[in-house]
Amino acid sequence: MSQIQDRFTMPMPDDFHAHLRQGAGLSAYVRGHAGQFGRVLLMPNTLPPVSDAARLEAYREEVTRALVALPEAERFEPLFTFKILPGMRGAEVEASARAGAVAGKYYPAGATTNAADGPHSFDEVEEALNAMEAQGLVLCIHGEDPEAPILERECAFLPRVERLLTRHPRLRVVLEHLSDARSVHFVETGPENLAATITAHHLLFTIDDMIGNSMNPHLYCKPVLKFARDRDALRAAVLSGSRKFFFGSDSAPHPREKKECGAAASGVYSSPSALPALVELFDSLGSLDSLIPFMTEHGAAFYGLPRTSRTVTLERGPWKVPKLIDGVVPMCAGRTLEWRVARN
Ligand code: NCD
Ligand code: ZN
Repeated sequence: MSQIQDRFTMPMPDDFHAHLRQGAGLSAYVRGHAGQFGRVLLMPNTLPPVSDAARLEAYREEVTRALVALPEAERFEPLFTFKILPGMRGAEVEASARAGAVAGKYYPAGATTNAADGPHSFDEVEEALNAMEAQGLVLCIHGEDPEAPILERECAFLPRVERLLTRHPRLRVVLEHLSDARSVHFVETGPENLAATITAHHLLFTIDDMIGNSMNPHLYCKPVLKFARDRDALRAAVLSGSRKFFFGSDSAPHPREKKECGAAASGVYSSPSALPALVELFDSLGSLDSLIPFMTEHGAAFYGLPRTSRTVTLERGPWKVPKLIDGVVPMCAGRTLEWRVARN
C-alpha cells in the first residue's frame, strides 16, 4: 500500500454509526452511503425510536425498501440497533436480539437529537445491560454528560463508563464519536472490551472551523468539535493501528433550514464525502496504510463480523462536493477534494 499512486482498490469500508432517519428522508439518505460502504450500523434515534423488536422489524422493512431501489452493486448491508429506554426489561432485549439487533444504544437523557426519552443513569437500565451482556450484544454509548459545560461533556462522562466497565466486565462497550484527547487516552488504556468509533469530521476539523471566523452550523454536531490537540490525538489513534478504534461516520442529516436558523440542529451529513475526504487526509499524512484497517477491519473484528469481500476503488482526481444533496448541506460542501470514488 505504501506505493499508492493515483488509483487503488480497498475492501469496502464499514460505517459503525450512522443516522438514516425515517420516512421521506430515508430513501434519499441511503444514497449517501451507496456504492461507498459495505455495512452500516443504523442508529435508533428515529421518530418513533427503534426501541423494541416490532419497531426494529418495521424499520428493517423500511430500510430494505429504500435499499432495493438502488442498483444492486450500490446496496449496503444494514446492521440494526435498538434504543435503550429507562426500565427496559431483559425480555425486550432478548426479543430485539432475536430480531437481529447487534447493539443497543445508550443516549443520556437530553444529550443529543431525539434523546429526551433517554435514561439518566446506567442504574435505570441495569436489567437491560445484564441481558445485553448475557446475549453478547454490543453497548454503544453517546458518552456526554448534558449537565456539564459543552466542551467538558465527553470528559465528564468518562467516570460513569469506568464504573460501568467494572460492573459489567464482559459487556462489549463502544464509546461513540470520540472528540476529546482525554477520551482517546481513556479508551487506549481501558480493558479489551472497550473500543471507540471516530468520525471523519472530528479527524478533519476543529472548533475554529465551526466558529473561529464565521459560524458554520453545518459543522455543528454532538459532541462538538474541539481543539487541534484533540483532533491530533484522534489522528494519532488511527495512525497507531490500535484495533480499539474504528470508523463510525455519525452521518446525521438535517434539512438545510433546520441548520440555517436560530436554533440549529446538531449533526453533520458526512456519508457522501467522508471516504474521499479521509483518503485525501491520510494520503497527505502519508499513511493510507493505517486508514484502511481503521475503516475495514477493526470494527468488524470488535463486532465479531466477517470481513467484507466487496471492494471500492478510489482515484486521484478533483471531485467537487455538491453544495446541497437532497436538501442537506453535506460535509465539505462546495470544496474540491483531491480524491474521488471511481464509478465504473
Ligand atoms: C445526531 C443526530 O442528529 O441524530 N446528532 C449529532 O449531533 N451527532 C445524534 C448523535 O449521534 O448525537
Ligand atoms: Zn450519531
